[in-house]
Order: sequence, then C-alpha cells, then structure tokens
Amino acid sequence: MNPAVRIRRAEPSDCAQLARLQEALWPTTSADEHASELGPVLAGRGSSTMPLVYLVAEADGGRLIGFLEVGLRSHADGCDPSHPVGFIEGWYVVEDQRRRGIGRQLLAAAEVWARRQGCREIASDTWIDNILSQRVHEALGYAVVDRCVHYRKTL
Ligand SMILES: CC(C)(COP(=O)(O)OP(=O)(O)OC[C@H]1O[C@@H](n2cnc3c(N)ncnc32)[C@H](O)[C@@H]1OP(=O)(O)O)[C@@H](O)C(=O)NCCC(=O)NCCS
Repeated sequence: MNPAVRIRRAEPSDCAQLARLQEALWPTTSADEHASELGPVLAGRGSSTMPLVYLVAEADGGRLIGFLEVGLRSHADGCDPSHPVGFIEGWYVVEDQRRRGIGRQLLAAAEVWARRQGCREIASDTWIDNILSQRVHEALGYAVVDRCVHYRKTL
C-alpha cells in the first residue's frame, strides 16, 4: 500500500491526463484520439452497453501516475460462461513509479468493482512477449488459462 497515492474513479476533469497515459500504453492512437473517446465515457454518456470504468492513481499535487480500465464481458476464456466476468482492458503505471505497489492497488480496486457488479471471476490478457505483464499478473494471483496465435491472409 502506497499512502501517498490515491486510487479513485476517473472524473471528466481527468480526461487530458488520462488520455496521455493511454497514449503511453497504446501509442498507435494519439492522446487527442483517446481523449475524444474518453470524454463521453467519463461524462457518463458512453455508448457501450456493458459497464466500463477507469480507475486512476493520483499522486500528491494531482498528477495521474497510473490507470486501469475495467469492464464487464459476457464471457472470457477459461471463465464460467454462465456469468459475466470483470475484464482488465488496460493497466498502466508510469515507468518511474513502478514497483511501488501502485499496479497492485489499481488491480485490487478493479476487483472490488467487479465483485460489486456481481462477478465471481475477473480475467485479463496480455501479449505473449510482454513478460513483465505476465510476471505481474501471476504475482497477483492470475493463472494462465490459454495461449493464442492470431493469423491473417490477404484475399
Ligand atoms: C504492469 C504494471 C501496471 C504493474 O505496475 P506496478 O505498479 O509496477 O506493479 P506493483 O509494484 O504493484 O507490482 C506488483 C507485483 O508484481 C510483481 N512485479 C512488478 N514488477 C515486476 C518486475 N519488473 N519484475 C518481476 N516482478 C514484478 C511483483 O511481485 C510485485 O510485487 P512486489 O513488488 O511486492 O514484489 C506496470 O509494470 C506497467 O505499466 N507495465 C507496462 C504496461 C503493461 O504491460 N501493462 C499491462 C498490460 S495488460
């Protein structure tokens, strides 16, 4: 637990900072593009039919140093298909603040949220070459249930 960091739900005023964190995690989309998608969701006007929330880690002075996007999915690999599951859609802590328990705190808050939605399970995924993410997931109690290879062919 890091007492200098506050974990809370993101608010509309977090949009610009949160979009920059999203850009750092998903750099193929610009911060401006992330912001234009985030704005309506943070204002409670998202188009998704399933609940989706953003949790942020706020340091002293109001700087956002991490986020976790958690939603509900009707099913996820390896989970009981008869119940919706919480799903970690994105999870990021800025590099110079890692290894201080912030990722753990964000994940714990996501698990509380998913339980409150009635979920019995929570799931996540990561790329096969993201060894860091795999280590952290496993350290925090997530078991590997599947591995997948994606293919394409031009037609
Ligand atoms: C994954 C990520 C969010 C974790 O954030 P974090 O704040 O560094 O995580 P924590 O400090 O809470 O670490 C929790 C546990 O994970 C493990 N862990 C964290 N970093 C680790 C590392 N570099 N090597 C091995 N284990 C590690 C440890 O067991 C740690 O607990 P401990 O410090 O008590 O031993 C962060 O590394 C990150 O943003 N990575 C880049 C983006 C990414 O890959 N996101 C996940 C995509 S799904």
